[in-house]
Amino acid sequence: MRVRRSLIDLDDLTAEELAGVFDRTADFEQTPPGPLLAGKACVNMFFEESTRTFTSFNLAELRLGADVVNLAPKSLSLATKGETLEDTALTLGALGICVVVVRHHEPGFPQRVALAFDGHVVNAGDGVHAHPTQALLDIYTLIEEFGELENRTIAIVGDILHSRVAHSTVRGLARLGASVVLVGPEAFLPASYAGDRISVERDFDAVVPNVDAIILLRIQRERFVEAPISDREYVDRFRLDHRRLALARKEAIVMHPGPYNRGVELDDSVLEFAGWRYARQVQHGVAVRMAVLDLLVNPR
Ligand code: NCD
Repeated sequence: MRVRRSLIDLDDLTAEELAGVFDRTADFEQTPPGPLLAGKACVNMFFEESTRTFTSFNLAELRLGADVVNLAPKSLSLATKGETLEDTALTLGALGICVVVVRHHEPGFPQRVALAFDGHVVNAGDGVHAHPTQALLDIYTLIEEFGELENRTIAIVGDILHSRVAHSTVRGLARLGASVVLVGPEAFLPASYAGDRISVERDFDAVVPNVDAIILLRIQRERFVEAPISDREYVDRFRLDHRRLALARKEAIVMHPGPYNRGVELDDSVLEFAGWRYARQVQHGVAVRMAVLDLLVNPR
């Protein structure tokens, strides 16, 4: 049996493993699974801010009966005493840690941990690179809504270039047979992002009536120095507001990985829209992360 040790990006999962994660998520939401990680220790290392992801990983680990240690970056010898990442990983292995969940601003950081650590690593977001568990919970939310995603069209709107969520989600959706329409200004969406089942569009008004779901993204201001587009132009061209929402299909849904900025990528009418699924996404986060931890630690 091939054993999946770590989850760095969605491409790490075979089609079978991907389906397995979604099946387990559904099962765990129906019936709490009990202490599948009893006696296993999980360390959460978040070098970047997090509310949703950090809390839901914690809850997932606790609900699976794991021992949980949260290491704040400032308390790590890695940050202040000159210990290398590789030696930190060795140390955690010697302590018998089973799973390390890591978020870091440097793309590739979780992969480096995985290479040095004798256990499982879950990427909770590395710079602009990837955020596989957010992509999984977003895709799970879409599957819950639509069933099969073949023949569905999903728009992802905004700062795609700097969004690790978008990078992971796009690949996952395309793999599941959905058509993906990326929408944004040149500075946030290079034309080269177009590919098999993935198109690049600049005119949001023209896209809204033709899609089953719209995933909005936050402008990742922490990832660039000077904004390449003014807020005013962004709002004019890409904000989902009352007027644009009126163009949407009646059964369309709107999603956002959070945190969302009111007035920038959406206005308050979106928060009152019947198809607004943000809370569902957050709710699925715990079960999806339980499913990932179970897949890695208890392969069947
Ligand atoms: C995202 C992230 O951190 O990449 N948030 C999340 O994990 N739910 C998106 C963002 O910060 O805009």
